[in-house]
Amino acid sequence: MSWVVSSASALQQAAPKPELTEEPHPAVPATARQAPLCLPFHPEEAVMSPAATFPKTLNPAESPMSGGAAGSHPIELQPGGKRYAAAPGQTLLDAGLAAGLCLPYQCRTGDCGTCKARVLAGEVEHLPASYPLEKAGDCLLCRCQARGPVTLACDEVPGVAGLPLRKLAVRVTTIERPAADVAILHLQPPAGQPLEYLAGQYVDVLLRDGRRRSYSLATAPGKAEQLELHIRHLPGGAFTDHVFGRLKAREMLRLEGPFGTFYLRDSEAPMILLASGTGFAPIKALVEQARRAGLRRKAVLYWGARRREDLYHHALAQQWARELPWFRYVPVLSDANADWSGRRGLVHRAVLEDFADLSGYEVYACGAPQMVDAARRDFAAEAGLAAERFYADAFVTAAPAAA
Ligand SMILES: Cc1cc2nc3c(=O)[nH]c(=O)nc-3n(C[C@H](O)[C@H](O)[C@H](O)COP(=O)(O)OP(=O)(O)OC[C@H]3O[C@@H](n4cnc5c(N)ncnc54)[C@H](O)[C@@H]3O)c2cc1C
Ligand code: FES
Repeated sequence: MSWVVSSASALQQAAPKPELTEEPHPAVPATARQAPLCLPFHPEEAVMSPAATFPKTLNPAESPMSGGAAGSHPIELQPGGKRYAAAPGQTLLDAGLAAGLCLPYQCRTGDCGTCKARVLAGEVEHLPASYPLEKAGDCLLCRCQARGPVTLACDEVPGVAGLPLRKLAVRVTTIERPAADVAILHLQPPAGQPLEYLAGQYVDVLLRDGRRRSYSLATAPGKAEQLELHIRHLPGGAFTDHVFGRLKAREMLRLEGPFGTFYLRDSEAPMILLASGTGFAPIKALVEQARRAGLRRKAVLYWGARRREDLYHHALAQQWARELPWFRYVPVLSDANADWSGRRGLVHRAVLEDFADLSGYEVYACGAPQMVDAARRDFAAEAGLAAERFYADAFVTAAPAAA
């Protein structure tokens, strides 16, 4: 199956059901946890099966900073002048991450636009992507390759440095079902090898047939060794059918992570936390992180769902609102029963009803791509939100309507 395809949708279609069977914990070398900056793997772990992902090894002799492997192209970032090398067939994102650079990215499939950069000099080949590029000269780092030396206008992302990307096998300890179509998986990493990540980041579940599915980590790191994923059932979906049909406690899953540059920025600005459905998961991690760090930034959580029962952690959000003086919670239902006395309609429109001016705010938005896109557009156009203060984690799936 080729990975040079247009979107997550294409990646996830027309492949056989994954075979997920129990496997032993692998021994993850201790050195894997000490890898510098954003290096994706310890070399011995670097076994990404699809062709268009990270390189198998990063041989010091082939260091991007020292000129790169034969046939590779030099890439320069402006401002700053950092340089790395991209091998033929390697995306500019994968090459940059392999070189330890903290480039902006989220979906890695050409759907979200987070990795958009400007080509200042040189020529790139664009791979198919669903995110529209409006200006000539723009590119998506996750969906383009160098054809020669390239200079890019692209700022690195502060804050994600120092987190090694790892593969690990985890044991499913418990499976909660807080709603008919939501499962909460609690996952135990190998003893003494907790995953290092930032609240808001996500992991990929690696399926045996080479496909992967992304899920946000729902707890702040360090709270407990266990990882938590909130998974919504998409009937007919390769992985979620397995979760809701056959997955049992004590089974093993293979993960890779942490991924993404969605995390709590160091700022005093008040926050709008915007979630739809299981988009609550990374928001939960952010709130836990803020609470533990003793932050007192004002935050309002708008959580959108169709019906009351879809707000599967309503009581928890209400509890936060009671306990945290800086936190408010506004649930919004689009298809509520007559007995619902709360807000109705589209969740991002509820924010605009309450905030005519968002210019001093930061927004953290997670969940259905349509909700995220609409919020990004309308918050900027109608309430003056600065584009660079909108942070998003869009749950791109094969069925875009169903996050
Ligand atoms: C960064 C990121 C973070 C995410 N975090 C979360 C999270 O925390 N929680 C969460 O619930 N989800 C999350 N997602 C979405 C998640 O990764 C999966 O896409 C989702 O769970 C569906 O996986 P699946 O294998 O069950 O479905 P897929 O096999 O990918 O199918 C998805 C849907 O498309 C339909 N479909 C598949 N193939 C076809 C076809 N050929 N024709 C028509 N329909 C088809 C299926 O029936 C199903 O309804 C995230 C996505 C991203 C990109
Ligand atoms: S479009 Fe490149 S990371 Fe999303």
